[in-house]
Amino acid sequence: MESYVIRGGMSLKGEVEITGAKNAALAILAASTMTDQTVIIENMPDEADTNALIGAMNDLGVFTHRASRHTVRVNAAKERNIPVDNEGIKKIRASYYLIGALLGKYKRAKVVLPGGCAIGLRPIDQHMKGFAALGASCRIEHGFIIAEAKDLHGAHIYFDVVSVGATINIMMAATLASGQTIIENAAKEPHVVDLANFLNSMGARIKGAGTDVIRITGVEKLHGTEYAIIPDQIEAGTMMMASAVTRGDITVKGVIPKHLDSISAKLKEMGCFIQEYDDAVRVFCSGRVRSTHVKTLPYPGFPTDMQPQITVALGLSTGVSIVTESIFENRFKYVDELTSMGANIKVEGSTAIISGVEKYTGAHITAPDLRAGAALVLAGLVAEGITVVDNIHFIERGYEDFYMKLRSLGAIIEKAEDEPQIEKFRIRYA
Ligand code: EPZ
Repeated sequence: MESYVIRGGMSLKGEVEITGAKNAALAILAASTMTDQTVIIENMPDEADTNALIGAMNDLGVFTHRASRHTVRVNAAKERNIPVDNEGIKKIRASYYLIGALLGKYKRAKVVLPGGCAIGLRPIDQHMKGFAALGASCRIEHGFIIAEAKDLHGAHIYFDVVSVGATINIMMAATLASGQTIIENAAKEPHVVDLANFLNSMGARIKGAGTDVIRITGVEKLHGTEYAIIPDQIEAGTMMMASAVTRGDITVKGVIPKHLDSISAKLKEMGCFIQEYDDAVRVFCSGRVRSTHVKTLPYPGFPTDMQPQITVALGLSTGVSIVTESIFENRFKYVDELTSMGANIKVEGSTAIISGVEKYTGAHITAPDLRAGAALVLAGLVAEGITVVDNIHFIERGYEDFYMKLRSLGAIIEKAEDEPQIEKFRIRYA
């Protein structure tokens, strides 16, 4: 089992290039199978989750080729509509995007139930409701979601909750349905817009993505395209928070600053200096951050995927902060680990009450999921002494070259494969 070993205490400084957005890439990869023509996707992150989806697509007979590290060529002309089920796909959430894609293309899909980070119940009722409205019968049987339709037709769908996954899935299926679909209470996240732009570049007719009403006029066929994925809002946000945690000066490059507004606004409240450029944001934090309150909300609110990272930063603030998690019910699992590093945080239901402490101290901890794992690494970067973070496979699901990027900013962090390697690091940096 691999771990990160970190010697805390360095102030991170410099520029870091942000990778393509994982959650946009997953939707776009699934959608790229909806045409038999060749699709070229640029800015594709090279991460465990995207690679797992590519693996599952290959199992269906889809041809994929990484022309370079971040460019993938996809051709689904020889795709077979067989049940989607392999070891890799079971671990990721986005396996369910293949339901929307296959249902749209073949009017039938059978996909193993999704995995993903254990951050709450994560039901899929809104996806099923949307597919049913489009004329598909949906059922869960023997661990598979099965959706089938004689014909898919447009429908007026009102989601009961704002769901990124359901919005994306219905958008894909509705693209190849007959007539018009209207999705109300749609998710507005940047990756929803990115998928809509991608599908439109393949000949789809989608309007309104980025607002809470999306209108889709079905088309008969999609064609090949060449498309570049947007930069990763959460990777950028994580690096910005690394600056706040380590009292650093980091410029995230190759980003869309508008996507980072809610994060920049909180960092300003915390006393950091933010400078925005056309495609970069600089975060400079010279002293201890100030406390503030945060509530996670669908976009453009503060992202749930940044909640652990900001909690780690606020754990070192000068006052008391309240962080409320309103999207997922079980996203404070990392707090016990952070407490073992000296944090003073009390969790009551969906709220964390954080009394800032002056410092964290290094400990041997475990990443419970992707974002919480990244947040614990940030804590290790500033902690006194050495921190070991186990279960880093969670982090590598969604951050490309995470520890190497941190190193390029001055962090002392290495990957260790076993206990002797951890011990060597301890001796070197004791
Ligand atoms: C996506 O998950 C992301 N995953 C998550 O990224 C992210 O945390 C989440 O959106 C919120 O932004 C991918 O894009 C692959 P939702 P998703 O459907 O689509 C409830 C990361 O770290 N809900 O928007 O699964 C649900 O329980 C992660 O990269 C229903 O009730 O999230 C939650 O409370 C983890 N019924 C809320 O909606 C449904 O049918 C939002 O979930 C669907 C969702």
